[in-house]
Amino acid sequence: MGLPLLLAAPALAAARGGLAVVVPLTAAPRDLARLRATLGRWNTPDFAPCRLDDRATPAAAHVRRDCGFAPEKRAHEPPALIFYANRRWHEHVRRDVGAWLGAAAACFQRVEFRAANLTAAEDGYPYGASHVFYAVHADMFADRRVRHFFYTEPDNAPIRARWADALQALVQTERFWVKGSAVRGPVKVDEWVIRHVNGNALYDAHDAEFRAVVREASRAAPRMHARLDPYDLALAAYFHDPWCPTGRHCAPTTSVAWRRERLHLYRFAEFAANHHDAVLGVAAARRAYPCALFVHGNRTAVNADRARGVSPNAVIKARELARKRARVARRAARRGRGVVAGAVASLLAVVAARRLRGSRGRGRPLFVYSSGAG
Ligand SMILES: *[C@@H]1O[C@H](CO)[C@@H](O)[C@H](O)[C@H]1NC(C)=O
Ligand SMILES: *[C@@H]1O[C@H](CO)[C@@H](O)[C@H](O)[C@H]1NC(C)=O
Repeated sequence: MGLPLLLAAPALAAARGGLAVVVPLTAAPRDLARLRATLGRWNTPDFAPCRLDDRATPAAAHVRRDCGFAPEKRAHEPPALIFYANRRWHEHVRRDVGAWLGAAAACFQRVEFRAANLTAAEDGYPYGASHVFYAVHADMFADRRVRHFFYTEPDNAPIRARWADALQALVQTERFWVKGSAVRGPVKVDEWVIRHVNGNALYDAHDAEFRAVVREASRAAPRMHARLDPYDLALAAYFHDPWCPTGRHCAPTTSVAWRRERLHLYRFAEFAANHHDAVLGVAAARRAYPCALFVHGNRTAVNADRARGVSPNAVIKARELARKRARVARRAARRGRGVVAGAVASLLAVVAARRLRGSRGRGRPLFVYSSGAG
């Protein structure tokens, strides 16, 4: 796909700032209610971003030392906190969010309210969530105070305390572009979907080549969903083909050579757990994910507001059918039935292509994906 080989100037990279925690808002139903519940959690000793007051952190809420990113005594500079609205901020919503954040604001060096300013047309669900992510990545890349950001949607819930300090430790260990969770939990999902890093993840915001990847992903034609594929699946497609369930018909979006140089920058980690489509309590989550700071996807698939797409098998079948029809029609045309057959051939090809597009656009609920946008 011909990515420009841009290299980040090391001097510039070294001069870049720190970590931002970005909480996006989307048009997803009940997003604000979820945000309120999550920010309420941030204000309890079990789930606070940092040590908030004199109340001791419950023993079970400590980040384990052997996870490799337990907060140090010598604390890092606190991260920035940025609430990112899908459209514009209404003053009363901004006030509410500030009130819900409450004392947890003290865990951050600054609290900002920014907006993606999406138009009504861009802000539908679920593709609006992807537009917000792409706006955030562009914005963070342009902001010299930000080197990495942790993208945490309102339904991504902390299960341990002092997670802001632990995130600081996590971004300092190694170079990465994306670091987050594979699909986890007990619910069966297709092989093709397991290997995407869920959108609630740590992202690089200073590498120019990764910026080019994200920009390109934001413009890629959707393969599975109406209008825009979920941003986390779109990024995954650079490193694995998430739409390749059979091993045949793979259409990797990057060359083998490209991936050999960059696959290590797309990292699966345990600090975030994308617990797919099953409810579990906090104690069970801490047992299941001994090194997780966050659990996402603590819900059941029957929720009405899930992002839905087309199953890869359906897409492949439709594509095969379209190819076969086009082949048959071309052969008929070659056999010399002349102008009429040629017209029939192109008509058949158009119908087949339209059918394929239609099967994507309608978003038949054949599978439910577990992404951040959901
Ligand atoms: C959204 O609009 C505000 C106010 O006009 C502006 O300051 C901000 O930069 C815009 N955000 C983006 C992502 O362009
Ligand atoms: C999962 O959601 C349930 C409510 O449906 C809640 O009681 C529980 O604490 C949540 N689990 C985690 C790990 O946040």
